[in-house]
Amino acid sequence: MTTINIHCYIVFIILSITVQIKSEICEKTVQYGECSTNIACGCFHMMGVNDDIGVCGFLWPTCSRLVPCNSSDNSCLESDKICVHHPQCDDRPLCYPVAMADQRICPPKENMINSKWEQNGMTVAGGNGYGNELNQLFLPTGLFINDEKTIYIADYYNHRIVEWNFNSKNGQIIADGNGNGNDQFKSPTNVIFDKQNNSLIICDRGNRRVIRWFYQDQIKSQILISDIACFGLAIDKNGFIYVSDFIKGEVRQWKEGEQYGRIVAGGNGNGNQLNQLYYPTYIFIDEDSSLYISDFSNHRVMKWRKDAKEGIVVAGGNDKGSSLKQLSNPEGVFVDHLGIIYVADRGNNRIMSWCEEKEEGEIVVGGNEQGAESNQLSEPSGLSFDVEGNLYVVDSNNHRVQKYLIDI
Ligand SMILES: *[C@@H]1O[C@H](CO)[C@@H](O)[C@H](O)[C@H]1NC(C)=O
Ligand SMILES: *[C@@H]1O[C@H](CO)[C@@H](O)[C@H](O)[C@H]1NC(C)=O
Repeated sequence: MTTINIHCYIVFIILSITVQIKSEICEKTVQYGECSTNIACGCFHMMGVNDDIGVCGFLWPTCSRLVPCNSSDNSCLESDKICVHHPQCDDRPLCYPVAMADQRICPPKENMINSKWEQNGMTVAGGNGYGNELNQLFLPTGLFINDEKTIYIADYYNHRIVEWNFNSKNGQIIADGNGNGNDQFKSPTNVIFDKQNNSLIICDRGNRRVIRWFYQDQIKSQILISDIACFGLAIDKNGFIYVSDFIKGEVRQWKEGEQYGRIVAGGNGNGNQLNQLYYPTYIFIDEDSSLYISDFSNHRVMKWRKDAKEGIVVAGGNDKGSSLKQLSNPEGVFVDHLGIIYVADRGNNRIMSWCEEKEEGEIVVGGNEQGAESNQLSEPSGLSFDVEGNLYVVDSNNHRVQKYLIDI
């Protein structure tokens, strides 16, 4: 947790000749906007840098002690001062003492270091209306991306799993059918890859089962778990498989050969207590075997540590809504190595990121009303990242997968 907090701060060091002062940079914050746990501090926009960057400093220095900056180049004669806007004192930019922006005076609020992604997505699968042609998808849900950037998609309403190679215009069907024979799929919701066995694990939701699918040798395929209202899937480094059951409100862990598995989250009936889930959808397991669960009807993401008896709310949990504190029917969930949680906020047509213990999240992409433009989403479902950190979102109601390039 400590590591997460450190990563969730952004700290810059401003050097002056005499002392080294650590100040916090405030990004995308209005002039005098809140930037510190000390309410006597606010954001001063700096001169000569990007407009929405400022320094977090004490709000009420004595005006008469502040001298205007050099008007020709916005510099300050004294090296322990920086040139900022301070319209309450003067219309001209003023030289502000860096010491008043020291973190010991203005301790930073948690502030995410967010990687940023381009706001316009490109369609890398589907996007040609709904249908069952090879260049189409029909209400796709979950996806998995391998190291070669091949995308595996649960093409829900086409009852198939399709594989889209990097940059290809068409998908290939690798699991198909509408029925309940061993090789027939019905409304699959999610697909993941088991590296150890070189097979796909598929939630065959319509047939209430989880299947291990050797797509290069389908005869070897087997039903892993039967009679389960599966939705989300995850696999940990030991090869244990995790499955959410959205009717029972629980997540189970399976080891090879087990019949029933063991409940590792929820299992206390549907509800909104910390030991309950209500329609869990997508799940994610991190390196420490902590489980993250999109708790769809509770509009929150829960984290269950290994062997925990109850979870903690790590995103949303403030009823359904569209403020930055809220989620609306969350689905796809992914947690990066810094512990930042990414969640497909389906009802709000946006992707959010959240730092554990933060009250509100940030919009990563979308959030521009429901629609089919490149900066819009329509009921996003699964999400994932490729090896380069580019973001992929299953834009379900647009029958496409969108890719957002990471800005470096
Ligand atoms: C203001 O900056 C300009 C350009 O760097 C310099 O020539 C001038 O001497 C400075 N004025 C003062 C009062 O320091
Ligand atoms: C999957 O891989 C593990 C580890 O190599 C092995 O023990 C297990 O038998 C394999 N399962 C199948 C179905 O091939």
